[in-house]
Amino acid sequence: MIRRTFPFASAFRYRFLGKLAIACFAALLALPVVWAAPAPIVLTGADRRPATSLDGEWASILDPYFSGLFSFHHEEKPNGWFRNEQAKPGDTRPVEYDFAKAPRLKVPADWNTQRESLLFYEGPIWYERDFDYQPKEHTRIFLHVGAANYHSWFWVNGQKVCEHEGGFTSFNCDVTAAVHAGANFIVAAVDNTRHEDGVPTLQTDWWNYGGLTRSVSLIEVPEAFIDQYDLHLAKPAETTLAPHGNDSGIIGSIHLDHIEGWAHLVGAKPGDTVRVEIPELHATGSGVVDAEGRAVFLLAASGLKRWSPETPKLYEVKISAGADAITELMGFRTIETRGTQILLNGKPIFLSGVCIHAEAPYRTGRANTGKDAETLLGWAKELGANFVRLAHYPHDETMLRAADRMGFLVWSENPVYWAVQFDNPKVLAKAEQQLDEEIGTSRNHAAIILWSMANETPSTEARTRFIETLAGRARALDPSRLITAALLVRAEGHTKIVDDALGKSLDVIGVNEYIGWYEQHPETADVTEWRIDYQKPLIISEFGGEARAGLHGGDNDRWTEEYQANIYRHQFGMFNRIPQLRGISPWILMDFRSPNRPLAGIQDEFNRKGLISDQGQKKQAFIVLQKAYQEHSVGKTQ
Ligand code: GCU
Repeated sequence: MIRRTFPFASAFRYRFLGKLAIACFAALLALPVVWAAPAPIVLTGADRRPATSLDGEWASILDPYFSGLFSFHHEEKPNGWFRNEQAKPGDTRPVEYDFAKAPRLKVPADWNTQRESLLFYEGPIWYERDFDYQPKEHTRIFLHVGAANYHSWFWVNGQKVCEHEGGFTSFNCDVTAAVHAGANFIVAAVDNTRHEDGVPTLQTDWWNYGGLTRSVSLIEVPEAFIDQYDLHLAKPAETTLAPHGNDSGIIGSIHLDHIEGWAHLVGAKPGDTVRVEIPELHATGSGVVDAEGRAVFLLAASGLKRWSPETPKLYEVKISAGADAITELMGFRTIETRGTQILLNGKPIFLSGVCIHAEAPYRTGRANTGKDAETLLGWAKELGANFVRLAHYPHDETMLRAADRMGFLVWSENPVYWAVQFDNPKVLAKAEQQLDEEIGTSRNHAAIILWSMANETPSTEARTRFIETLAGRARALDPSRLITAALLVRAEGHTKIVDDALGKSLDVIGVNEYIGWYEQHPETADVTEWRIDYQKPLIISEFGGEARAGLHGGDNDRWTEEYQANIYRHQFGMFNRIPQLRGISPWILMDFRSPNRPLAGIQDEFNRKGLISDQGQKKQAFIVLQKAYQEHSVGKTQ
């Protein structure tokens, strides 16, 4: 039986439903608009893809109260400055900004060193630039941001395309739907305000350089593309040879180098193929995409020349899948520990290192060019170093490519620095996100041997749980490298004791000590012994003291070059009494800006622990350390 309804009831119902729909739509409009955009993605080796650069002069508007995005009741504005509007006759409201008339800021660069008035500025700044584009069929377009410190929002043609937190890792926003043929514009808001629940948190000992501090570009990829990939030398396995067609009797076993790896694809179908080729080795391999978009492969690589500081051999590696192809430049080596030794390509090594901040030589500010990297690593090479601790955050791809090319072993570090909120799950999620971005972006640099989880964190239970979680995540993401962290070390009399609970979760233990600067006198090192409660390799990941370049006096006159050199001289004897010491990285290669260092005439807002001044003046301690490295008089490999 068909139940018929009365026409009257139907009419009433439809009128009611119509009114309800209008009311809902109106309510939606009235809601404070919270622009949601898809989360940005990680692209491995983004710098190896063809790109349209967006570097150069961008319009910039300071907005200390962020009124370009938030209303007077702190709701996100639907007509914020991201609309890049021009005032028109008859407007019913004022347009109180104009990017066309605004001053320019250079990208990539921190804003602090571009204008005197911005040196200490902390807050939001808006950026805008126009660009022409001709979208292509079956192509996705990503906005690649090398780094934006600290919190950043991006819109293309007024449409929000992404938001990101974290000042030292690259990210990629899908702008395919927002870009159109012809003239386009992009607006960014970058806010370098420090937050208690940030990573890093409120206090650091470096300048809070804000802005689009690393390159920005547009990257095109096919609809099915490789977002992440990893290739590394497989741990040597015995490869047994048996008579053809018969696996009885073994005619011998040889070590055949194999390269293992995987590629992850977006938009591919299970069953698609990924190909890998290393032409110089006549090595090829392929893998089949599984249901998760991942293909694994294994290539025999006989005749491979292993990467090392002495022979930083790089190979061209072609990775392709469907219409996508990437040509990488990669070195292959193994890194592992055996007891208290660190083995590079199976041989014990000692890491003769130095710490480096991403501070630009001469001009100061955030380092972000190949020239900056060549200068800094050139000084490290001159020092006789084979190892650099890139503190305290992931450095940029230009630095890592230079380290691959010049032959430096690298300690890369997630900025879990000092006292972040270890009991806040949201802070853990931020640290995990930045770790994922760091490893996902930079996982194919032969130079990187150590992923550092943190620096000088308080040894509380919450801290240990937090960093153990990060260490577990890093191992799962990349089982081919070693996990470390720079720990604080306690003392009983003249004995330094390394018993921080975090040591259990590390492969290599880093400790920072400042005998002669923050504690005791330089000569105290002569009578200091060490007790290390872990049978693992140890790196003294920081030591040293400050000196104003050109300031001279006696060995005991603090702030002079002689005093700094004296600290170094007394350290070496102590180092040679630590049987499991496998590396040192003094703090630091070059003086760097820090608001914690105001001592007029000496620091002038610079931390002066550099072996070299920010203007390239080598201090006496540089010569002292250089001599020790050249004579191999400090450190033992076993
Ligand atoms: C700490 C810290 C550095 C800091 C240094 C110093 O060990 O890790 O970031 O700059 O000491 O006090 O100079």
